Amino acid sequence: MAQRVQGTEDLFGGYMREWQNVCNIAGDLFSTYGFDMIETPAIEQVTTFVHGIGESTDVVRKEMFRVFSGALLERIFEQGDESHLKAKQRMAMRPEGTAGVVRAAVEHNFVPQGASPVKLWYAEPMFRGERPQKGRLRQFHQVGVECLGASDPASDAECIIMLMEFYKRLGLDASRLSLSINSMGDAACRPAYRDKVRTFILDHKDEMCEDCLERAEINPLRSFDCKNDHCREVMKQAPLVTDNLCDECREHYAQVKKYLQEAGVAYEEDPTLVRGLDYYTRTVFEVQYVGDANIGAIGGGGRYDGLMELEGGRPTPGIGFAVGFERIMLALQDAGVDISGEPEPCAYVANTVAELRDAAFRATLALREAGIRTEADYQGRSLKSQLKQADRYHARVCVVLGPDEVSAGMATVRDMRTHEQGQVPIEALSSKVAELIAR
Ligand code: HAM
Repeated sequence: MAQRVQGTEDLFGGYMREWQNVCNIAGDLFSTYGFDMIETPAIEQVTTFVHGIGESTDVVRKEMFRVFSGALLERIFEQGDESHLKAKQRMAMRPEGTAGVVRAAVEHNFVPQGASPVKLWYAEPMFRGERPQKGRLRQFHQVGVECLGASDPASDAECIIMLMEFYKRLGLDASRLSLSINSMGDAACRPAYRDKVRTFILDHKDEMCEDCLERAEINPLRSFDCKNDHCREVMKQAPLVTDNLCDECREHYAQVKKYLQEAGVAYEEDPTLVRGLDYYTRTVFEVQYVGDANIGAIGGGGRYDGLMELEGGRPTPGIGFAVGFERIMLALQDAGVDISGEPEPCAYVANTVAELRDAAFRATLALREAGIRTEADYQGRSLKSQLKQADRYHARVCVVLGPDEVSAGMATVRDMRTHEQGQVPIEALSSKVAELIAR
């Protein structure tokens, strides 16, 4: 039997409807904050991620799926390595959405200098070569937003407030969510802080894992979220970024916190929160679901004031977040929240004898043309089993076509809620069905 790739999921039936509901809730909420939808390609040049996310991050080093055509792979095997490939021939499946959106903004000059911020949202599959486990997939879906061209702390606060409102609208109570925030500093204060952390790691080198010692050279802040528990324990004594912010970053962070307090958004400050992507500057945040620690973060984001330049554009600030759909679904399940929503009202056309299939076909088309969602049965089942089928579709109205009705140019219309029924001329069928559905 053919099987899907481990760590991927088929979205169908109720689960697919839930995904669509999540997107609808996101779209409604984000549009009130002025966000428009964007879709970027699932494959990008490797450099887009290397420049943006950072060469030393796990996401780029270990988890990014590289993409080669068969012909290119043959050449790589022949030549023994890929050094002969041009940059544009090195491609990868996107592990996250921000780098691609910013690349698109640079390529199409979305954010001309001095223009108002450009606010974009997306709902797309992402790909990471991780060891599949609960809430950790190789292909997963993110609903994310990126606000480009906004540097004010009010934008950071708005972004976080909108994220928390999104969970609320999905049905997740604030008491089940824990929001952590931090400031990572900027190009002015982070280099000196990074050096301090490097020195700390080297001073504790006997206690740190190999990965952390390697990280000390290239990106020491990564050690704060090392997968090794002991390293994380040692890092609790490391210098904290919040004690090493420059005046501008400290002020920016204070303003963000002030706005969050004003909006009544509860948060915890976590000075060890560094996030797994290198593009962050100043504000970073992450949301955990409190009920089940195994789900992991159900959303996270932050400011990335240097990313536009890293992707070859003019210096332009930015901030955003992304929420993992599959983890949201696990959290909703754990919290006992059903977001499948009301089934869309529909009509069902039953026909009692096979010879009436043409009449059923025509009636079905006419109802759909009138904009009514309509199901029909062409399988010649008994009327009883067709009525059961209509119930399964949650049909509000069942149209029954029998030989007597059809020869008289009529149809029987049954209100499935009240079980009342009556006959209507076939020309008046659509308006009668629409009236009953709307009732
Ligand atoms: P991230 O924290 O890497 O941030 O991912 C955001 C969310 O995607 C996570 O909180 C989690 O819910 C979900 N997620 C991540 N990896 C997996 C996985 N393997 N399986 C299932 N769900 C997963 C970003 O991706 C940034 N681009 C967010 C951002 C937008 N920052 C600024 N703008």
